[in-house]
Amino acid sequence: MVETTISVIKADIGSLAGHVIVPDFIMEFARKKMKEGVEKKIINDFYVTHAGDDLELIMTHFKGENNEEVHKLAFDTFMEGTKIAREKKIYAAGQDILSDTFSGNVKGMGPGSAEMTFEERKSEPIVVFMADKTEPGAYNLPMFRIYADPFCTAGLVIDPNLHDGFIFVIQDILKEIPCYLEMSCPEEMYDLLALIGSTGRYVIKKVYRKDGMITGVVSTDKLHKIAGKYIGKDDPVAIVRAHSGLPAMGEVLEAFTIPHMVSGWMRGSHAGPLLPVALKDSKCTRFDGPPRVIALGFQVSNGMLVGPVDLFDDVAFDITRQKGLEAMEYMRRHGPFMPHRLHTEDMEYTTLPLVLEKCANRFIEGEIDIAKKIKDTSESAE
Ligand code: F6R
Ligand code: MG
Ligand code: MG
Repeated sequence: MVETTISVIKADIGSLAGHVIVPDFIMEFARKKMKEGVEKKIINDFYVTHAGDDLELIMTHFKGENNEEVHKLAFDTFMEGTKIAREKKIYAAGQDILSDTFSGNVKGMGPGSAEMTFEERKSEPIVVFMADKTEPGAYNLPMFRIYADPFCTAGLVIDPNLHDGFIFVIQDILKEIPCYLEMSCPEEMYDLLALIGSTGRYVIKKVYRKDGMITGVVSTDKLHKIAGKYIGKDDPVAIVRAHSGLPAMGEVLEAFTIPHMVSGWMRGSHAGPLLPVALKDSKCTRFDGPPRVIALGFQVSNGMLVGPVDLFDDVAFDITRQKGLEAMEYMRRHGPFMPHRLHTEDMEYTTLPLVLEKCANRFIEGEIDIAKKIKDTSESAE
């Protein structure tokens, strides 16, 4: 039986009026490129959308993960889209394209990607999450809730197919060479939490059912690691399969109802609530945020996509959004202070060290007595 691959490849190649939204003409261009990809039989089907300032290419094919043709199609779309964005002087055109020579895969070149390959079930509902103004670790908490928290996912308790739990693959994203570790839940739940609570370092990359069935995958590409300097947050995507022996779509979405604090927001330097929003609200304006996530649901059918349905476009998430907006207001009042501004370790990857460098050599050992200094200066002037 042929296996279907879902490849979600994304990049910020320029946005309208600052880091706000992908212009329509860029999305139209991307659709044209994707159509050509279908005609050339590189992909079966596609859906083009945006999460704030990130262009999102959702593609299906039978070629497996890390396929050169599929990655090149996405890369060429970003490169040629950048050219159009530059012609129109769109802001930050080509921001995430860190190399213009394709070398077989978009990994390490700036764009982010999440890919999943499986034998389609009788019916295959999936959801693609796409976030803006945050980092891959933003999915740690909801992924944990989906697959390990019985207060979120009722199926963990009452469905025998879920009752054995799940296996999490964790990536240490600060390592140059990707490093992974597997942990079984519920058996190793406390160890798992000990790691994934550090959202800037240990990131849930994949989740499997105990029988080896892949069910969740997250993009873990770190832009600053690739570029060696700050150039915006990584704005991660995730693919999750639902139902029939996996958490139901409603349980998957329930995981986003806290709304939890994530790193990102203005200048990738602030903590703020992750708002689950409808596509129409996927534009970060207030203080370049707050960070937000969209969820598009599809049925995967013989390698094609049926849908989408805009899953967070539901009044039932209003209460989450309202809580998020209150948290946003409270955090904003802290201005440049922690914990709104990120802790020192995370600020290392922003532009703050450039400012701190100027102050570093002004520290002296011993106390400073300004009154004495002024007195001494005025006496010596007399
Ligand atoms: C966050 C983001 C924005 C920018 C900010 C400054 O991921 O992209 O918050 O960091 O608007 O933008 P520049 O440096 O382009 O003026
Ligand atoms: Mg941007
Ligand atoms: Mg973005």
